[in-house]
Amino acid sequence: MSKTYFITTYGCQLNVHESEKLAGVLKQRGFLPATKLEDADVIVFNTCAIREGAEDRVFGNVGALKKLKRAHKEKIIAVCGCMTQQKAKAEKLYEMFPFIDIIFGTSNLYKFEEFLDKKTKRLLAYDEDFNLLGEDMPFYRTSGENAWVNIMQGCNNFCTYCIVPYVRGRERSRASADILKEVEKAVKDGYKLITLLGQNVNSYGKDCGEISFAELLTKVSEIEGDFKIAFMTSHPKDLTSDVIDVVANNPKLLKEIHLPVQSGSNRILERMNRKYTVEKYLGIIDEIKAKIPNVRITTDIIVGFPGETEEDFEKTCDLVRRVGYDGIFAFMYSVREGTVAEKMDGQVPENIKNIRVNKILNLEKEIKGKLKNGNN
Ligand code: SAH
Ligand code: SF4
Ligand code: F3S
Repeated sequence: MSKTYFITTYGCQLNVHESEKLAGVLKQRGFLPATKLEDADVIVFNTCAIREGAEDRVFGNVGALKKLKRAHKEKIIAVCGCMTQQKAKAEKLYEMFPFIDIIFGTSNLYKFEEFLDKKTKRLLAYDEDFNLLGEDMPFYRTSGENAWVNIMQGCNNFCTYCIVPYVRGRERSRASADILKEVEKAVKDGYKLITLLGQNVNSYGKDCGEISFAELLTKVSEIEGDFKIAFMTSHPKDLTSDVIDVVANNPKLLKEIHLPVQSGSNRILERMNRKYTVEKYLGIIDEIKAKIPNVRITTDIIVGFPGETEEDFEKTCDLVRRVGYDGIFAFMYSVREGTVAEKMDGQVPENIKNIRVNKILNLEKEIKGKLKNGNN
């Protein structure tokens, strides 16, 4: 009987796509997906570090495997991803849970196969070199009609609240020729939606003299076949008119833009190191709406960033009303070790963050209700 695997993914689309790569390695070795975690011979947790909650879930879920591993010593338990790219967290997991066999970070993803073969008892692989990121790894797509296609890795922006630049390294774009080849294959294989992925897709090419993101979108759209193109994520400081024009004029592009604003207060945006103002952001929104009729605009918002007053928060509510988003991902600020905001004064109490996040979600519902009624 074939051996099986089960992968739990905690993070963003990038993380999901990396789980597809881990699955690709396992499939290539003859493993099949298990329907239940308990049944699998190889159990993988692909973790996320973006907020404390995501990390707490990993501790809880891995901890729960103690009995299973005691009863089935032959099972392999691996923990990888952004959380274990932080040395202290990787070491803590290693010490807390002696039944974990393999721990490795995002920079070591491409070594997964080698780790599976290791005969040593336990393995903790920590590495800060992000040069090799598994571009050539096989993958097993698991997202229905959608094919995730990575176009770049890392982030240079260092928003003061965010762990990503620390666990993903600096921006590195893939060669456009490789991206186009991958899309061609995905389209041939029947995928109907190609989603181009990167932490900051508008910076595509800037690190290596490649074509611009707008040019990349156009080239991808020229691939023959019946498919649509989406992308994420755009940073407002880098979203340029040429990209908006491609989305507006190219029939292959989905008429959707995810443009995280984070806050509606210039004071907070500055403390977040976002490098744009509310006025600049609204200017981009107006341009998008003017050029793309019926566009779907979504955003991310953080409430309770250090120093956020009631007045700052009200400004975020005003911005939400002004834009009239089609979807909002609202988060309570979560302190991340090693970031600049960790040391900032004015940390906001949890109960206030809770009230604010609920207000944003209610506002979103209200807006959606109005939009619906308006259309009737
Ligand atoms: N690269 C993307 C998104 C990265 S993370 C971008 O810049 O837009 C996705 C979202 O998680 C962010 O947009 C932000 O809203 C949220 N986030 C990041 N760090 C956070 C933190 N420390 N606490 C709460 N939310 C956070
Ligand atoms: Fe994090 Fe900012 Fe980079 Fe997005 S742009 S990944 S929020 S540092
Ligand atoms: Fe989480 Fe890493 Fe993505 S921290 S949001 S899985 S890049």
